Amino acid sequence: MNKYLKQYTESGILNLLEYYLPIKKIFERKKANKEITEAFAVINILNREIKYQQKDKEIAIFDLGCGKGYFSMLSSWIFSYTELFACDYNTNMDIGHFDFFSNVTYEQINLFDTKIINFINELDYDEIILVGIHSCKQLAIRNIELFNQTKAQKLILIPCCELKNPYKRQIYGIGNHYDAWSLYLFNQILTEHKIIKKDLTILSPKNNVIYAYK
Ligand SMILES: C[S@@+](CC[C@H](N)C(=O)[O-])C[C@H]1O[C@@H](n2cnc3c(N)ncnc32)[C@H](O)[C@@H]1O
Repeated sequence: MNKYLKQYTESGILNLLEYYLPIKKIFERKKANKEITEAFAVINILNREIKYQQKDKEIAIFDLGCGKGYFSMLSSWIFSYTELFACDYNTNMDIGHFDFFSNVTYEQINLFDTKIINFINELDYDEIILVGIHSCKQLAIRNIELFNQTKAQKLILIPCCELKNPYKRQIYGIGNHYDAWSLYLFNQILTEHKIIKKDLTILSPKNNVIYAYK
């Protein structure tokens, strides 16, 4: 069995889902397994990184471009001592399921709006972590800008579709365009403390994971 799906079934969240069928349905969607493996790729990094810190620290985690919010919901369950900010600009989405998770706040916001920079910088937490899962094109660049321009200490990014302009693909017969795009993004991060790794447990060919900290 896929390691991340095993972690998901062993996390105990399935018992919780029995109490709220609309959320159970979200986790039973056709594409849910892919989203769950992406979320657990990030959760495993956070588990490792937070483990060495005192759990009584106040930690805020931003799910940038959260969509349905698989990562926010799973993190709410696993990191119940953190505050989750699930951010998306989509106004048509049903967000009722977020109410079920007391440590998740849905922020309907355009991440390109400068308001988000002040919002992050004015928060009073010991640690602020930015997460962007399957951030496409310009949104991936924006998530990195938010890391570079705010006091957030950590960034975990799983890039998705590449931006063709102004990013120009200049590789010929070496690697693939997704890897080149991921490396391009990696180079935009203004800290020496960063790694990029292909995670083959993620059920998607878009499986490069970038982790950076200040
Ligand atoms: C490919 S989906 C990824 C959803 C989620 N992170 C996941 O992996 O399940 C990208 C999400 O980013 C949101 N998004 C795109 N541009 C945005 C922006 N400028 N501000 C806020 N959200 C944005 C979209 O509405 C969409 O929900």
